[in-house]
Amino acid sequence: MLNFDNMSMKPAGIANNNVTGSTVPQAAAVVSNNGQAMSFEPSAPAINQAGDQTMQNEGVVAGATGLEEISFNAARVRVDDKKIINCRADVNQLVPFKYEWAWQKYLDACANHWMPQEISMSRDIALWKDPNGLSADERQIIKRNLGFFVTADSLVANNLVLAIYRHITNPECRQYLLRQAFEEALHTHAYQYIVESLGLDEGEIFNMYREIPSIHEKDAFQLQFTSELADPNFQTGTFETDQRLLRNLIGYYIIMEGIFFYVGFVQMLSFGRQNKMTGASEQFQYILRDESMHLNYGVDVINQIKNENPHLWTPEFQQEIIDLIKQGVDLEYKYAEDTMPRGVLGLNRDMFSEYLRYIANRRCKQIGLTEQFAGAKNPFPWMSEMLDLKKEKNFFETRVIDYQTGGALSWD
Ligand SMILES: [Fe+2]
Ligand SMILES: [Fe+2]
Repeated sequence: MLNFDNMSMKPAGIANNNVTGSTVPQAAAVVSNNGQAMSFEPSAPAINQAGDQTMQNEGVVAGATGLEEISFNAARVRVDDKKIINCRADVNQLVPFKYEWAWQKYLDACANHWMPQEISMSRDIALWKDPNGLSADERQIIKRNLGFFVTADSLVANNLVLAIYRHITNPECRQYLLRQAFEEALHTHAYQYIVESLGLDEGEIFNMYREIPSIHEKDAFQLQFTSELADPNFQTGTFETDQRLLRNLIGYYIIMEGIFFYVGFVQMLSFGRQNKMTGASEQFQYILRDESMHLNYGVDVINQIKNENPHLWTPEFQQEIIDLIKQGVDLEYKYAEDTMPRGVLGLNRDMFSEYLRYIANRRCKQIGLTEQFAGAKNPFPWMSEMLDLKKEKNFFETRVIDYQTGGALSWD
């Protein structure tokens, strides 16, 4: 075992990152490890290479990335060494588990596996092609929703793999992130599959985030969170940068996946409730089930970071987060108005205004913030039933068998 105080804590991988420290304020550097023996030994030769000096001078102790040299005969990882951010222990060893909730969510997500092309779109195609099948307002809702979602899940996936993954220093949490990243790819696939099935103008739909203001504003709001973390100079390990990471996680899990998806989900699932666009609606139902797990995972990660780093959760920071959530509610309401200028499908603008206030309250409560919209009620209680999608009721029952036979290996 090595004593923390007597070793350079900079992992080998960081030496190659050309960290200038420009985004990492020296005065705010926080080393939360209190000097206990560490089980992971960064490679000494790499630490002493050029480039190391900058980080040491800054006093920043960012977490292990998994790219450090493999220390032969280093002490074994203990559960107590594991931390969700800024962890120095080896992040390549899945066990021993510390965060059972993360591993369980990974298992649950795999158990919920589905593929878009297994849902029949034939009734949707017939309805879409029938000139009298849907009203102009109904067609606008479908196109605008696809216009948002076809690129939204790419933004989420980019944020996962290009921004947050390297800063989450725990292997069981990373395991779920990898599953989530695949699910985001499946969701983009599902939206593309609907666009293709209905024969929509791909250029029109995929460019909506650059051409429709209400969609563009939501995505521009999100990109601010990704950009700052994707900066190669960004490192956690200081008060300010750890707050930036937490802000990103809240921006994506709470606002993007927890608020910005919900007007679209309600609208598209409302079609299915009226026996219209049943294939698309079923796709959205599976996506909603995945997304609600992404949200719950994000809530757990955010609360775990708060528990391990309570100094980050200052009153000023809480107010900053509340302001962001309120901005998110406003942007999503504008989007609701834009997708649905008139009442349709038994839905109207006032219901969305109330619903967004209701879910914003829930999101605040989930991460320990005060509810901001007193008395808001849920005008769509049926949405919670949609989350209880059981495999026994749907195509999975036969599909699992198909996988076992269709996917059998042949060594010939
Ligand atoms: Fe998604
Ligand atoms: Fe998601």
